[in-house]
Amino acid sequence: MVPEHLRQSASHESRLLIVGLGLIGGSLASALRVAGFQGQIVACDPDEHEIARGIEMGLIDSGGTCLAEQVEGASMIVLAVPVLAMESVMANLADALPSAAPNVVMTDVGSTKATIRACAQRVFGRVPTNLVLGHPIAGSEKSGVAAANPQLYVDHKVILTPEPDVDRNALDRVRRLWQDCGAEVLEMDVERHDQVLARTSHLPHLLAFSLVDTLARQDERLDIFRYAAGGFRDFTRIAGSDPVMWRDIFIANKHAVLASLDDFEAGLGRLRHAVEAGDSDALIATFDRASHARRYFDSLLNKTSYQAEYHMQPQGKVTYRVRPGGQAKGHLRVPGDKSMSHRSIMLGALAEGVTEVKGFLEGEDSLATLQAFREMGVAIEGPHQGRVTIHGVGLHGLKAPAGPLYVGNSGTAMRLFSGLLAGQAFDSELTGDESLTKRPMGRVADPLRLMGATIDTAEGGRPPLKIHGAAALKGIHYDMPMASAQVKSCLLLAGLYAQGETRVREPAPTRDHTERMLNGFGYAVSRDGDTCWLQGGGKLSAGPIDVPSDISSATFFLVAAAITPEADITLEHVGINPTRIGVINILTLMGANLLLENEREVGGEPVADIRIRYAPLKGIDIPVDQVPLAIDEFPALFIAAANAEGITRLRGAEELRVKESDRIQAMADGLATLGVQHAVVEDGIDITGNGNAQVASYGGGRIDSLGDHRIAMAFAIASLRAGDDIVIEDCANVATSFPDFVELAARIGMGISVEGAHE
Ligand code: S3P
Repeated sequence: MVPEHLRQSASHESRLLIVGLGLIGGSLASALRVAGFQGQIVACDPDEHEIARGIEMGLIDSGGTCLAEQVEGASMIVLAVPVLAMESVMANLADALPSAAPNVVMTDVGSTKATIRACAQRVFGRVPTNLVLGHPIAGSEKSGVAAANPQLYVDHKVILTPEPDVDRNALDRVRRLWQDCGAEVLEMDVERHDQVLARTSHLPHLLAFSLVDTLARQDERLDIFRYAAGGFRDFTRIAGSDPVMWRDIFIANKHAVLASLDDFEAGLGRLRHAVEAGDSDALIATFDRASHARRYFDSLLNKTSYQAEYHMQPQGKVTYRVRPGGQAKGHLRVPGDKSMSHRSIMLGALAEGVTEVKGFLEGEDSLATLQAFREMGVAIEGPHQGRVTIHGVGLHGLKAPAGPLYVGNSGTAMRLFSGLLAGQAFDSELTGDESLTKRPMGRVADPLRLMGATIDTAEGGRPPLKIHGAAALKGIHYDMPMASAQVKSCLLLAGLYAQGETRVREPAPTRDHTERMLNGFGYAVSRDGDTCWLQGGGKLSAGPIDVPSDISSATFFLVAAAITPEADITLEHVGINPTRIGVINILTLMGANLLLENEREVGGEPVADIRIRYAPLKGIDIPVDQVPLAIDEFPALFIAAANAEGITRLRGAEELRVKESDRIQAMADGLATLGVQHAVVEDGIDITGNGNAQVASYGGGRIDSLGDHRIAMAFAIASLRAGDDIVIEDCANVATSFPDFVELAARIGMGISVEGAHE
């Protein structure tokens, strides 16, 4: 079957001449045939057998060995000869061109571009405007037209390196030709092309040729090869490539290849030294970086998210269908705290020494943070079942990342990173997913600018953030206009790099994990009432971190039990930091039967098992001082309110409007679908619950989570008291904070199924 995208040819060339009918030229003809190309395809090749074979295979209509004869009437000419043959072919072409069609376009497929451009300049006096230099990044160790493959270019890149004065129409025609073959067409200048290819293609070929030749020379009878296993075969496959073609490439791209070989030799030298010295840290650091970079590369090729490599939910449409009713019973341990997981990587990376983390949340957000530090040169082992080992580089040991740092869906990561990156010697850029791109970053950019940082944002203070390095930061006294732990933490992290004291005053208490963890790493953070501060210029000393279960994830099961008659759930090892327990206080005020058991302190954070059994809930006016302490828990608390007797009123919660979604509106829309009575105000909502445990509290329906993990999980829990199925769309982001939510929900007795997770 011809794939859909290959059936419609967009190229309208009347006669295509392929000069050089080998693997590349033959595959081009073959792909165009499959695409339904309407024009004639002819070829010229010094080997008449190749021409005969091409005709026999149905790839070309006709051909011959004399260029002057074949050029006649050609509308496009593709030069698919080895790089060093290019000049003589161009010279023949220059003589023969008058017999081509008037608007003839020329292009080539050579693997190096500067030498081919120079050939054109010598032959034609300048690069003709109808010559579009190009290079399909595809090939095979096989050669000759017999190996032609119509799929060779599908989903491969073709790089065009047009001159600035190129004829735009010619450029478009070449672009269409390759798109017909299923390729993705990019443009780049000649120099960059040659550098990139030297590293990504020419160097690996040189190494493969060299390794095989070295071993073959050492063992004339080739005995070693009998024992060589898959590793050798994988590494050296390309050593079977066409020697003439590769000789030409190395002669043509000498300078760029030598530069990449120098870098490689330096890296090999470092590894040699590490092996010699038995330097286990250096070996692990190199292998770990390489192994993750390789996986990242795979995920790019497979067009999946990097996190999918960790068996997360793949991006795309994920829908939950939840049957009404069900039980809420069992003992559960929910994943590690997201806020602490981010901070454990950040502080571990900036510390001196090795930090061992237990209980790390293997969710997409914290994995993106981990990856960002790898990209800044930090060796990180794991995660393996919540265990991560971070080889800290010290406050000044981060390296400039090669490109923008991608922090996914996470506002916390972007805001905390902005503070610590403002203190670095290098420039950096922070980007995120579509939802994050809409969130306000002025709240961190503005005070960081007061500290002396230079930060560019997109319009309206939105991401991406471009942070200019080498700023001399100075401490400030900052009165936060909103109660935000992210802003506070950002400024404290920048304060590590600032001269003098950085002081932050919060209008209401917010989570204090940054302060606790800094203290745990031996960096003094002081507090007096609503203000905390630190002095710049200290250092962090690595230490173990035990991340407790996330109370924000536990909340979904607390609410599940609070609304379901006969429920009895125990959540183990949950962090109950006083700045996070708004949900416990609010549910208790509503009448929930909730007990803290086995209270203890783990690594500077209070922890308990929380047991919750069903008891009827009543509506309350939520105390305003509890709002920052329960800020992430409101989507689930709104569901509790919808099941309580009477009205629950929330005020002072305008921050909910700038979370992963506008959570007041997103929840109100979902509640409306279920038929729950409510009234929205700017900074909150009134929800009228149905306190009658004998009947369903509301109906079912189809709800859009807007890609917000907490909206998705809140409505999943709501189904325990619904009268009909609740279908929740756009749930892939649950993997950002709670990758095994569905499994745990099923374990307590909910009827939840997932559609589209593996599309
Ligand atoms: C977080 C702080 C809170 C919270 C977020 C995590 C943190 O945001 O909503 O999920 O880890 O510091 P704000 O600081 O913006 O309130």
